Formats: sequence, structure tokens, C-alpha cells
Amino acid sequence: MEYSPTTIRNLLKKKEDNELVVGITAYNYSIARIADEIGIDWILVGDSVGMCEMGYPTTIPVTMEDMLTFTKGVVRGATKTPVIADMPFLSFQTSPEEAIKNAGKFMQLGASGVKLEGAKNIRNIEAIIHAGIPVMGHIGLNPQYYFQTGGYRVTGKKKKEWEETIQSAKILENCGVFSIILESIVPELTREIRREISIPVYGIGAGKDVDGQILVVNDVLGLSFGFKPKFAKQYANLEKIIHNALSQYKKEVEEGKFPDSEHTY
Ligand code: KIV
Repeated sequence: MEYSPTTIRNLLKKKEDNELVVGITAYNYSIARIADEIGIDWILVGDSVGMCEMGYPTTIPVTMEDMLTFTKGVVRGATKTPVIADMPFLSFQTSPEEAIKNAGKFMQLGASGVKLEGAKNIRNIEAIIHAGIPVMGHIGLNPQYYFQTGGYRVTGKKKKEWEETIQSAKILENCGVFSIILESIVPELTREIRREISIPVYGIGAGKDVDGQILVVNDVLGLSFGFKPKFAKQYANLEKIIHNALSQYKKEVEEGKFPDSEHTY
């Protein structure tokens, strides 16, 4: 059966067909357009935008308004790739009504679903799903819980964390999420979670035993200003490329070399 390309059905089909799914975050039109052109399977407008593009120390200050603005650019670049928008801190926790309204705003902009952290606000998560909105879960390291957890930690090094994390995955599956992101989880626990549930799990720092990978685009492109989690592989050094290009431009203007005849009407 053929599904409309921007729906999450294609992602689910990849699991049935045993194909790995590739996800990447994007926060603007140009990156989304390139991801779309090369056939990345799905794009996350992550609230990591707060740290990557707004200079915040955590994702906590990111607002609905911020997320809607960045999502607008991404959905325009991604014409055939499902875009999942991240529900920022306090956008879905307060009540089912608030959760539906906020999730609905992303859908009306052109997103294909929303992602949210944790397995604690189940009534609100169910309300979003009952409204017809696909929801992706996210467990393990949940940056929106930074102040409760006291920092960014790997989950599963202590055996007592296993039961709670497996339980969270089951709770989310039972309430109807279509997939779950596993972030910073030891591979043995990842394997166990995947055995216990049947929906796709996508890993970020969770090893290979998953249905696909997702990375933060700034880490992949080398635009994270020295911050590099162990799991993130850097495929380019955009920081250096941009630094060199802008320095060259500055130098040429200062020396009167730009604009030359080629760049003058
Ligand atoms: O906000 C984000 O980019 C995320 C990913 C780390 C999964 O939630």
C-alpha cells in the first residue's frame, strides 16, 4: 500500500520491511530542504534549537512561539519528508486541553506529528493522540528534566534504572505513541526495551539495536562550538568553513577587493 510521503505511515512501514530509518534535526528551511532532497526519512524540529541556534544553556527556555517559528521554515523546506515538531517545556504538561491545542498548532503549520519527553503526563498524551495527532515518545535522557536529574546522564548504568525505563516504554506504547526515541541509554538496556515493545525505537546515543538513528544536525555538521556528546559523529566542520568564509569576506571588503567587476552591475 502506498502512503502519502509526509505521513508517519512510511516510517512504520520501514520497520515492517526491516529497514533502518534515518532522522535528523533541522531548524530552518535550508537544512530541511537538503535533508528532503537526499531522502532523510524524517526531520525533527527539536527543542535543541534553544541550545543550537538560540544560545540557551538548556532547552527549558524554549517557548511554543519559538518552536512554531522554526517549524514554519522547516515544513517549507521538507516537501516530502515527515516533520515532527518537539513540544517544548510546559506546552503539554498542564492540561489535556492545552496539550491538544499546542500540538494542533504544529499540525496546522504542516507538521506530521509531535514529539514529547517522558512518560509522566499520560492523560495529556492520550488526549493529543485522541485528537488525531501522531505522537512520538522520548525516554532515557530527557533534557526538559535537567533540573530534576541534576544534569545530562546516561541511563541504564545502574540496574535499578532498567525497570523504570522499560516501564516508561510500555506505558507510552499502551497509550498509543507511534514510536519512541531512546536517548543516551546503554546498549544492553536499549536491546531489552526493543524486545519488550513492538513500535519502532529510534536511538540517539543508544547503540545499534534500534530501528533507526537520529542526530542533532549541528553535531553532525560541526557547528556546536566544542560541545560534542560521545555518541555524536561529526561529518563536517561547518564552524571552520563559515569562519574562513566570513573572515575572507571581511578582509576583502576592508582591503577594497570586494565588490570586484564580476560582482558589480
Ligand atoms: O530536541 C532534540 O533535538 C531532541 C533530540 C535530541 C532527540 O529531542
